[in-house]
Amino acid sequence: MLAPVARKYGRRLNQCGATAKGVFWRDEKWQAVRFDRMCEIFEPSDLSDGGVTINDFGCGYGALFDHIAHWPLMNGGQYYGYDIAQEMIAACRDRINDPRATFIRKMVATNSADYSIASGTYNLHGNADEDAWHEYIETSLVQLWDKTEKALAFNLLRDDEAERYDGLYYIDPDRMRKFCQTKLSANVEVFDESPMPDVTFFVRR
Ligand SMILES: C[S@@+](CC[C@H](N)C(=O)[O-])C[C@H]1O[C@@H](n2cnc3c(N)ncnc32)[C@H](O)[C@@H]1O
Repeated sequence: MLAPVARKYGRRLNQCGATAKGVFWRDEKWQAVRFDRMCEIFEPSDLSDGGVTINDFGCGYGALFDHIAHWPLMNGGQYYGYDIAQEMIAACRDRINDPRATFIRKMVATNSADYSIASGTYNLHGNADEDAWHEYIETSLVQLWDKTEKALAFNLLRDDEAERYDGLYYIDPDRMRKFCQTKLSANVEVFDESPMPDVTFFVRR
């Protein structure tokens, strides 16, 4: 199911380069708004003291690392970026040469980290069956949670009948909230903030 998705992302990066459009975002501004929302998952003491480990699951060309590289959060920190698309991992390695960042071509997180973040990772399902894709998201989140020591942040597109594009997956926020509370942790926050097209979920231990 993931092979066509990886191919689509690879082609897109080759067409548009290491830019927001290259990972199917509208523009850099909205990509950054999403990162800022996700980064509210970090505890204030970690934001000031650093030394944290982060899994960026579905890292694309490594834009989240660019976003946080100069924050005190990353002093003495370690960032692991995972992606299924070889082209994305190659772009990360070409662009970013920093001892705090490691890029891994994998469809599961392999390192335990304090925080895990997945921005846009589950949006594009290609032509997958919708039920099968939903099941895949849940399985993937359980795996990611297993590698998360403190907290997990991820987003999904809001199911809004007015605006639906072929090949994208849209979520019912309540269904996902219940899944998180049942299978991951009772400590779940959901941010459904129009005009952002995605809903953000924070899950804490
Ligand atoms: C919409 S892009 C977002 C990239 C990045 N998070 C950002 O916001 O700039 C989603 C990325 O997730 C990757 N991806 C999708 N499913 C994945 C999986 N199971 N494991 C690792 N990467 C995945 C895709 O290859 C793509 O690069």
